[in-house]
Amino acid sequence: MSITRKSHAFILSVRIPLTLADTRQPDAPLVLANPAFEELTGYPLEEVEGHNCRFLQGGIPQPEARSEIRAAIEEEREVQVMLKNRHRDGTVFDNLLFMYPLGEGLFLGSQFRMPATARIDSTIARHQEIVGVANALAEEMAGQRLKINRTSSDAVAQTVRAWMAKGY
Ligand SMILES: Cc1cc2nc3c(=O)[nH]c(=O)nc-3n(C[C@H](O)[C@H](O)[C@H](O)COP(=O)(O)O)c2cc1C
Repeated sequence: MSITRKSHAFILSVRIPLTLADTRQPDAPLVLANPAFEELTGYPLEEVEGHNCRFLQGGIPQPEARSEIRAAIEEEREVQVMLKNRHRDGTVFDNLLFMYPLGEGLFLGSQFRMPATARIDSTIARHQEIVGVANALAEEMAGQRLKINRTSSDAVAQTVRAWMAKGY
């Protein structure tokens, strides 16, 4: 599926980090990343386009999170996963990654840097924002609404609680 000009412009204009990856191409390269992604990670679109987004893991092993993501891609379903990532300068941050299938192997990813003092309500607020963006894109690109409901917010809260309990 090609990205419409409208969707392309919309993704670039959104102020929360967004990435698009084509999981039907070999090694699921990024096809788009917006300025908010660059602001968060330090990587501009020109440097990341064509690369799998795992480069952000910077050699930190996290097999469970990775297999969770691979399963979601395989089954073309949404998922949110906590990852250890590195900014371009090498510093580590906790990235709550939200991923949504937009159809035909295209996935939307949104990166949320967990604040030093994690707050469930701010994470839920971000989640709501991402759901709005994902729904708008799904409608524009595939003419359908994503099936996102309260369960997703509960799952987000649970992910944050589990992360806080680990004392990261
Ligand atoms: C749209 C999209 C965005 C992604 N964003 C990130 C990210 O911000 N950080 C990260 O560590 N992995 C991210 N990933 C996950 C990796 O690209 C990869 O799918 C994951 O590491 C599991 O595959 P692997 O075991 O082959 O590395 C993203 C994946 C997709 C499809």
